[in-house]
Amino acid sequence: MTSPTAPVFADVDTGVDDAMALAYLLASPEAELVGIAATAGNVPVQQVCANNLGLLELCGVAGIPVSKGAEQPLHTPLRTAEDTHGPQGLGYAQLPATDRLLTAHDAAEAWVRAARAYPGELIGLATGPLTNLALAMRAEPTLPKLLRRLVIMGGAFDYRGNTTPVSEWNISVDPESAAEVFGGWGAAWGLDDPTHVPIVLGLNLTENIAMTPALLNRLAVAAGSPSAPMSVLDERGTRSTAANPLIRVLEDAMRFYFEFHFDTGDGYLAHLHDPLAAAVALDPELVSCRETTVDVELSGTLTRGMTVADWRGHWGRQPNALIGDRVDPAVFFDRFIDRVGVFARELG
Ligand code: BDR
Ligand code: CA
Repeated sequence: MTSPTAPVFADVDTGVDDAMALAYLLASPEAELVGIAATAGNVPVQQVCANNLGLLELCGVAGIPVSKGAEQPLHTPLRTAEDTHGPQGLGYAQLPATDRLLTAHDAAEAWVRAARAYPGELIGLATGPLTNLALAMRAEPTLPKLLRRLVIMGGAFDYRGNTTPVSEWNISVDPESAAEVFGGWGAAWGLDDPTHVPIVLGLNLTENIAMTPALLNRLAVAAGSPSAPMSVLDERGTRSTAANPLIRVLEDAMRFYFEFHFDTGDGYLAHLHDPLAAAVALDPELVSCRETTVDVELSGTLTRGMTVADWRGHWGRQPNALIGDRVDPAVFFDRFIDRVGVFARELG
């Protein structure tokens, strides 16, 4: 029997925009978040676990298992991004204390259990390095066939990187796991159904999704918790005075993210990479995509972690990805603000 809501499993390295993505999933009536995997990435995996548990506490949601992933990428030491996401991964935000516990099994096993529990139904979302997913596919090579859909935020296609000149963060942190996922995906399907490939949203697409103080203010208003819009002129680290607890956390997190983007020359805004991926996981029609074969550069001295798309079929290999190439940011933001606004209002 199919569920009335779509089961979703999210693998995250929370992270400011990962937190926004989780809020979107929790706020979406057609989705049932059945599990969260914590991946080491923006911050160490223990901190990612704490952020996921604290966020569930803040949102008053019970019964969503959180599983700890590997502490390190497959072959290389972990790099983290506190400069981008703050010392604990959520900018200036403080999450409530919680006595919630992690699952006894790890994140790779959580992927496999969820996929087996909902064969053909589960929507997978990966918004961090692909370490857990690669380990899950080692344990269950037919995982791609068990999933209804997989959406990955990662890579940069015909576009500059944000971590090296050519590589995007999630892929750059653990290129070997990304290569295994793209390779294993093709192998699992063979010639059966080469159309069932992951939707991959790279920086070329996700950097169109620019959260601004005005949009964040619209969210606060939608939640019934208006406050003065943030400004680049505000003292750094100014804390939110929003009455609504979720809006307060999101504003405190976003302020740090705005400041980071400002310092890197993007302006006083922030790219919501992971929330776009969450929205596409629930509704692929939000983006248009082009099918291709993707591989990850592992050995280039200047290009390690680069995602290479074989648009013209030089390799003669099966397609293994649908690369997002167009999105209407206004449609995304209307949906994000409507949903998260209503959800926050109910909490407040
Ligand atoms: C990705 O890197 C992380 O810092 C963000 O959370 C996002 O998943 C963007 O490159
Ligand atoms: Ca992320």
